[in-house]
Amino acid sequence: MSEIRFNGKVAIITGAGAGLGKTYALDLAKRGAKVVVNDLGSSRDGSGSSSSAADIVVDEIIAKGGEAVANYDSVATIEGGENIIKTALDNFGTVDILINNAGIIQDKSLLKLTEAEWDNVLAVHLKGAFCVTKPAYKIMKEKKYGRVVFTTSGAGLYGNFGQSNYSAAKMGVIGFMNTLALEGAKYNIKLNAIAPVAASRLTEDVLPPEIFKKMKPEFITPLVTYLVSEDNQDTSAIFNCVSGWYSRTAIVCAKGIFIGNGERAIPAEEIKENWAAIISLEENKVITKGSVELFDFLVPFMSD
Ligand code: NAI
Repeated sequence: MSEIRFNGKVAIITGAGAGLGKTYALDLAKRGAKVVVNDLGSSRDGSGSSSSAADIVVDEIIAKGGEAVANYDSVATIEGGENIIKTALDNFGTVDILINNAGIIQDKSLLKLTEAEWDNVLAVHLKGAFCVTKPAYKIMKEKKYGRVVFTTSGAGLYGNFGQSNYSAAKMGVIGFMNTLALEGAKYNIKLNAIAPVAASRLTEDVLPPEIFKKMKPEFITPLVTYLVSEDNQDTSAIFNCVSGWYSRTAIVCAKGIFIGNGERAIPAEEIKENWAAIISLEENKVITKGSVELFDFLVPFMSD
């Protein structure tokens, strides 16, 4: 197996002062990357801030002979995002890799959920992805190279009780990624997403203790390291990962059924009559070329 190295590459990892992000920072630095360790140092609901989270990770990297610098900005503002990229440029001259990882939770079921809890969670996960990715993408486009990982969640992809704000934010990240993968294709910018499950302060009271112990963040790290490496040529893919299980998941479109030749209005009764074919996921495919690809499904019916 040839070793995956990052010599000469500059990586930014948001929320790298704890949990999953810390493991990415340590692994990339060990493999030769120069790392910007961003962390606001907030509590898990996003309140408070402290520079010590990022500093501790930077100290650990430097003590092991690696190169790293801390940044304490919040990802949730345009100024914060620009300053995170500036930290990379000022210290290391460029940006090759961005891992959008910073995250908070403010869980409530819908009727208890406040506007502030909605806004706060979307600000960190979704707006935060925009605020940091945009200035990083500018550099990547100029140099025609970039590797970006977004952090989605099973809650976003499939739903999870009490997390509607978090789920909306995490699925929003997928829409953002899918369009950037189209826009960034000709600049060799590859963007992918992971949906991890791992022991961290975000999950300490959610996962049963015996399972919590086995779900080490270090099981997520190798997938992320591969995705941000030059070897990775895939883009716009989503991966579930937990405890050594790595599995692609996707938004698919089924073959469906074409009713009425595109020429007559369809009454609801015909929808009812054809429901089995409409709801079926048979003969589905992953859409990789954007929403225009949906027209491919119509061509066989439109051509005669
Ligand atoms: P964690 O709470 O251990 O780490 C998140 C880090 O983000 C913290 O160090 C925090 O200070 C930082 N942060 C929070 N808001 C910030 C902001 N505005 N700007 C900069 N930094 C900020 O959490 P964990 O578990 O490591 O989560 C990492 C990512 O993985 C998050 O996006 C989370 O939503 C996602 N995730 C985690 C899962 C898990 O099982 N641990 C499951 C699904 C997704």
